[in-house]
Amino acid sequence: ITDVRESMYLVSEFAKDYFNKTLLNSEEGKAIGLSYFKERGFTNETIKKFSLGYSPETWDALTKEALGKGYKLEFLESTGLTIAREDRPFDRFKGRVMFPIESMSGRVLGFGGRILTNDKKAAKYLNSPESDIYHKSKVLYGIYQAKQAIAKQNNCYLVEGYTDVIQFHQAGIENVVASSGTALTPDQIRLVNRLTRNITVLFDGDAAGLRAAIRGIDLILEEGMNVRVCAFPDGEDPDSFARKNSHDDLVAYLEENSKDFIQFKASILMKEANNDPIKKADLIRDMVTSISKIPDRIQREVYTQECARIMDISEQVLVSTLAQLLQKDL
Ligand code: CTP
Ligand code: MN
Ligand code: MN
Ligand code: MN
Ligand code: MN
Repeated sequence: ITDVRESMYLVSEFAKDYFNKTLLNSEEGKAIGLSYFKERGFTNETIKKFSLGYSPETWDALTKEALGKGYKLEFLESTGLTIAREDRPFDRFKGRVMFPIESMSGRVLGFGGRILTNDKKAAKYLNSPESDIYHKSKVLYGIYQAKQAIAKQNNCYLVEGYTDVIQFHQAGIENVVASSGTALTPDQIRLVNRLTRNITVLFDGDAAGLRAAIRGIDLILEEGMNVRVCAFPDGEDPDSFARKNSHDDLVAYLEENSKDFIQFKASILMKEANNDPIKKADLIRDMVTSISKIPDRIQREVYTQECARIMDISEQVLVSTLAQLLQKDL
């Protein structure tokens, strides 16, 4: 680690503590930030576990405080906490509740900040920019808090957002991480692969969530990992669903509705195909494409058999289609 990056980590850690203290101790933080988190059902324990915070609605509160403590403007800027302006540098995050984004080893890499209103015009979340310590495509929100549970359960739930991760923890499910707005990347999957070979994708019950899940499946298969998928009811995300249900009901729902990717694709796409033979053919091709991403030959064979059985088609046809696809990849 270079001195530059170490300095960036240190100022990020300082900002995390500053936002957390502001949330818990300042009048503004308590009135606005803390009451927002309470309304979402977050406990004090959760706020502590995830070091949640609040950034005050001022021009440069954090910047001033940090400079006063001897942190250098250079690192406040390179982490994106402060935005350069010759005469008067200012804070990036203002009047937002803050979610620190941590590495596998618990170092603060960046932040997500949520506005407190439901104003559809403003961006709901503002995130730290890419920097020498924060590479969005290589980070999973919650990995530090989840790593032990992921290894122990030998499975990782993958969700979309910060609050999904947090609400699952409160519901007693700790093996969960979020891709946080970026489309899932191979680097993120490899991070999970260090802890388990099994991922269960839990996406928001909307069109965007479904698209993200379908894309995610093939990427996870390409890394040689096992992927299951669990859909949530329309309009629900893991956060809202966890809040509405007891721990036992949530666990039961996850168990009953997690499907392997073949069953999952069959169930959603069969609905669309509606017995139309052309659509059914497209669907089968789509499944075989996913199967072709699996590096292990025996696993490919097992899934090919399952696909043939579920789609009621001869295995031979699937095998030859698969062979064509694999040829193309070479
Ligand atoms: N996201 C983002 N910028 C946005 C919207 C979303 O970075 N303008 C990321 C955040 O990490 C967010 C995730 O994408 O947590 C999922 O988005 P969404 O489902 O819209 O948000 P929720 O996590 O459900 O947030 P909330 O429940 O607070 O509305
Ligand atoms: Mn770099
Ligand atoms: Mn969503
Ligand atoms: Mn959501
Ligand atoms: Mn949500």
